Order: sequence, then C-alpha cells, then structure tokens
Amino acid sequence: MCDTDARLDGKVAVVTGGSSGMGLEAAKNLANRGAKVIIGSRNETKLRNARDEIITATGNQNVAYKVLDLGSLKSVRTFANEVNMETTIDVLVNNAGAVALPDRLTADDLNLTMQVNFFGAFLLTFLLLPKLRASAPSRIINGVAATMYVGHIDFDHWNDIGRYNFVSSLANSKLAVSLFNAELDRRLQNTCVTANTYDPFVVRDTNVLTNIPGVVQDVSRFFINVIGQRKEEVGKQIGYLASAPEMEKVSGKNYKFCHEFFNPWCVNNKELTKRLWEESKKAVKISKEEDWEARSVQVPLFG
Ligand SMILES: NC(=O)c1ccc[n+]([C@@H]2O[C@H](COP(=O)([O-])OP(=O)(O)OC[C@H]3O[C@@H](n4cnc5c(N)ncnc54)[C@H](OP(=O)(O)O)[C@@H]3O)[C@@H](O)[C@H]2O)c1
Repeated sequence: MCDTDARLDGKVAVVTGGSSGMGLEAAKNLANRGAKVIIGSRNETKLRNARDEIITATGNQNVAYKVLDLGSLKSVRTFANEVNMETTIDVLVNNAGAVALPDRLTADDLNLTMQVNFFGAFLLTFLLLPKLRASAPSRIINGVAATMYVGHIDFDHWNDIGRYNFVSSLANSKLAVSLFNAELDRRLQNTCVTANTYDPFVVRDTNVLTNIPGVVQDVSRFFINVIGQRKEEVGKQIGYLASAPEMEKVSGKNYKFCHEFFNPWCVNNKELTKRLWEESKKAVKISKEEDWEARSVQVPLFG
C-alpha cells in the first residue's frame, strides 16, 4: 500500500498535531522525502522531543516546531502568521484533533470539540490559502474519522453546550471537516491546489483515548489494539497523499487504507457546503484584512 519514492526536496510541509501519534509518523515520512517539516501543537516539550525524534529518524535537520492551540483563534492566527513567513507552503496536513473533550465553550465562544477538530483547521487553512495558492501545485490533506458518517450539521446549534454527547460532538466535527474539504475542492478548481481527506479508521498506540473516562477507555483500547492499524502505516498513507505524482491532480476525494473510499453523501450538497464555508468564516471572525476572498472579487485570485 502507498508505495512511492516521490521526493519533496525544497518543499515545505506543515503538519498539525505532529508531536505524537499519526501526525508524528506523517511528519517523519515527509521529512524522509526531503521536505522542510513544521509541526504544530500545544505542548512545547512534546514538540521539541518530536522534532528531535524526526531529525534522528530521518537525518533531515530541516524540521521546526511552532506552538499551536487549535482551541484558540488567537493561537491559530499567530501560528499562521509565522508559517506564512516561509517562502512556500506546499503541503498542509490538518491532522490534529481530540476526542472526549469537556462539553464547554472556548474563550472564542465556540464549542470546544468543534473548535479543536474543525474551526481551528478551517481558520488555519483559510489564512494559509493565498500562500498555498502561490506555491501551487500544492496539497491540503484533512484528517477525518469514520464517525463523520453519523455526524449532523445544524448551523443553529453546532456550538451548543449540553446538547451532544462526546460521540456526537466528535461525529459532527469530523463531518464538518469532510464538508469543508468538499467546498475547498470546489473553490480550488483550476488552481493546482488539491484538497483530500483521509480516514485512518482506528489506529493503535496513539494518545487519542486519553480523555475518555475509565472503563470506556480500557474497552476502546482493547478494541483498537485488536483491529487498529499501526500509526506508521497512517504516516505512510499521508506521505503518499502528499507526494505521489499520480495524486497531483486528484482532489475532493476521501482515502482509507490508501484507497479511495466513499465520502458522506451530503458532501454533494453544494448549498450545504457553501453555507458551512460562510458560517465558518463568521464563526472564526475573519476580518476585512484577512478576507482575501472579498478582495479577489476585484482581482480574481482563484480560478
Ligand atoms: N487514533 C485513532 O484511532 C483515530 C481514528 C480516527 C481519527 N483519529 C484522529 O486522528 C487525529 C490524530 O490522532 P492520534 O490518534 O494520532 O492522537 P494523538 O496521539 O493524541 O495526537 C493528537 C495530536 O494533536 C495535538 N493536539 C491535540 N489537541 C490540540 C489542540 N487543541 N491544538 C493543537 N494540537 C492539538 C496533540 O498534541 P498536544 O496534545 O500536545 O497539543 C497531538 O500532537 C485526531 O484528529 C483524531 O481525532 C484518530
């Protein structure tokens, strides 16, 4: 599965959640191909250790880390500004996410799970898109999960507290990523920037279960250890999507075990994905200065 010798020398790859689990494995894979890799997540000690681990494993010294908290719009903006200083951004992997977070609002007045798993990635991608476009051909790779098939988007309630259990919150946030990917694909037609999702199914030996309480965590871990795939395999799959020549023009698709896999049916609902894009811009408070879409009405940036 996913075998390619494709190189990424001279390219810049950004991996959110690159400090552990499958994000760390993806970062190693991209570094192995010669890319400059920038990893982002919250904990600086974990980031530093991950950076050292990537350098040791690959021999590629061109690995950097930057603190990023997807649960804070301010942190995402700071991270985006720093990453936008790079000459190019050729690959963006929106991998970071969490499960079973507390059911609360963030300082930005958004549902915590929705913000960490979706709105943060939406804002980051939006802010990096002009640079991704200028670096074309470039690739955006968005992590989803099988729960997306049972997710539900209700724009009047998607940031509510006390309405969804942690499975529903997770499902809604991952469905939002899938719809976002579909809208990205539509907006990026003819730009040589692609957007695809990958669904890792279940993956062993990551920290994703950390927030799940007691017995449920033990049972989930047992289940994942029996049927889950190795995180190294997912790293390889992400590396393939990011580098394989045959993927250069492929966009709007979902991948599982490196094969195309069906998207949730509602990604074909153009009204829904368009509304998700517009509502998300409002939710993350895109400013006039940040809104390159509004400016590109006069000077078309895309298409
Ligand atoms: N493992 C599975 O079975 C499975 C299945 C389907 C989908 N997924 C998804 O795959 C992604 C990676 O999960 P994993 O299994 O590799 O778990 P993991 O080992 O817990 O890795 C998660 C990564 O995301 C970072 N992160 C968490 N919260 C963040 C935040 N608020 N801001 C920025 N970074 C944050 C973590 O670093 P810090 O905590 O230091 O910030 C870490 O680097 C997640 O989105 C998860 O939902 C996992």
